[in-house]
Amino acid sequence: MAKDDGSTPSSIGEAEIVVRAFDSEAGQFRRRHHTVKVTNFTTVLDSLISIKEKEDPSLSVRYSCRMGICGSCAMVVNGKPRLACEAMVSKVGRAGPITVEPMRGHPILRGLVTDFDEFFDKHRSVKPWVMRNNPQERFNTAKEFKQTDEERDTFLPFAECIKCGLCVDACPVSNTNKEFLGPQALAQGYRYYADSKDQGKGRRLELLDTMDATWGCEFAGACSEVCPKGVDPALAIQMLKVETAKHRLLGGSKEK
Ligand code: FES
Repeated sequence: MAKDDGSTPSSIGEAEIVVRAFDSEAGQFRRRHHTVKVTNFTTVLDSLISIKEKEDPSLSVRYSCRMGICGSCAMVVNGKPRLACEAMVSKVGRAGPITVEPMRGHPILRGLVTDFDEFFDKHRSVKPWVMRNNPQERFNTAKEFKQTDEERDTFLPFAECIKCGLCVDACPVSNTNKEFLGPQALAQGYRYYADSKDQGKGRRLELLDTMDATWGCEFAGACSEVCPKGVDPALAIQMLKVETAKHRLLGGSKEK
């Protein structure tokens, strides 16, 4: 008999999944208990897909890549915001039934699916692109914008964001002040600020120099704890605070 080294699926039996989903027709949440067959490789997302296929076709679940890249399957599993495709049933279900709910920091649409319109509006508001004084440079493919490894490393850790929205869901400020720009958008604001190719640094800092942006962050750090990609939005926002204070001391923007 082949030895089980954990590299091939093996049956570990059944898991109990409690799904709290929004019934958009009834306008209220409903809670349903399901028992699903699982192996050591089954994720929470696999279980939800199985539930939808075999028991509850009305259950709405958003997903795409199933490998932690697209950010579509963000939800709350056992009270913690996380990607359902990265949550292994064998781990999160160790202590009993697994509860699954939609994220709470985004408006609910239906089932386990939340609305990202506001999230992407905020993302766009920080101008998530490299600003150049001469916009025509964007179309000049002959020109090369070189960066050293050190220059690249200042923004690269913040460029890993997959826009799953988990950081916003975890943020206590975002959950109490809907005007707050939130950790995702602010971290992306810093990502472009820190890019040596960007020529809009002063304008960026001034755009975010408000109580609903950079200064709204209370440094709870929950955003960085839940990020599945290891981005550290809390650090990015503290860097924005430092850079904004320096920018003010130096008399503000000289950029046009
Ligand atoms: S389905 Fe793409 S991150 Fe989970």
